[in-house]
Amino acid sequence: MDYDALLHEVAAQVRPLAGQGQVSRYIPALVAVEEDGFGIAVADVDGEVHGVGDWEAPFSIQSISKTFSLALALALDGEGIWRRVGREPSGDPFNSLVQLEYENGIPRNPFINAGALVVTDRLQTLTGDAGAAVLGFLRAESGNPSVAPDQDVADSEAAHGDRNAALAHFMASYGNLENPVPVVLEHYFRQCAIAMSCRDLALAGGFLARRGVRNDGSRILTVSETKRVNAVMLTCGTYDAAGDFAYRVGLPGKSGVGGGILAIVPGRCALCVWSPRLDSYGNSVAGVAALDRFTTLTGWSVF
Ligand code: DON
Repeated sequence: MDYDALLHEVAAQVRPLAGQGQVSRYIPALVAVEEDGFGIAVADVDGEVHGVGDWEAPFSIQSISKTFSLALALALDGEGIWRRVGREPSGDPFNSLVQLEYENGIPRNPFINAGALVVTDRLQTLTGDAGAAVLGFLRAESGNPSVAPDQDVADSEAAHGDRNAALAHFMASYGNLENPVPVVLEHYFRQCAIAMSCRDLALAGGFLARRGVRNDGSRILTVSETKRVNAVMLTCGTYDAAGDFAYRVGLPGKSGVGGGILAIVPGRCALCVWSPRLDSYGNSVAGVAALDRFTTLTGWSVF
């Protein structure tokens, strides 16, 4: 496969869409990004990486971090996490409170904010430092030791974090947190504030394309656990737009409000696209379009 030619064709087709949609405004520090930026990278299962556009520019990974915290919690604790969080699409926005009360403090899935807070809480118990566990894994898999949280983004999110704090306190009232709310929030904000490029994230997602094998050849997840993470990405990774994402792209994918999307072609490659303007669901407009073009041109959807 001539990845360079393919990515150039994808970029040429969707670049005009990078001016559509709105940059996320509820985390003030995120507004300071290059609003019309666009980059895309592909890392194949052998770790060879190609990219075009702003593919080496760091951006805030935000909810894409939830993929890695889930993988680490599964690796360390097996299926136990599913007693505290479900794996059904929510059909609600990623920061919604309403469903939690109907469902007794058990979040629908690990990718809405409430579910990710539960996963971070578990990882904190298992490792003693959930933020450092996620960061260490991302540095190792991307091969980039300079990957780090952006402290301004973490502080900004904490200063405007009333909704996440509400979700965490609500779950605590149902006994679904093991650690104090401020500790869980701090580690969650720190993992969301990690800055990485499309190149870094495509490489870091490689273990999901290699059916659980890390870039050093060691195994982090079983084949079956990897299938499960990919399945939850497909059904829940783009929130209440997951149905449309599966329809258009047909790959496991995880978006973030920083404008990134990580997508996996099992057995073949991991892709990351970034463009910060979002649709009303919080997914990158040009990013979804680029993945749509990619799977249409290659025929590499999972369907
Ligand atoms: O907790 C939040 O609201 C953000 N740190 C992450 C949200 C997010 O990325 C949702 N993704 N589309």
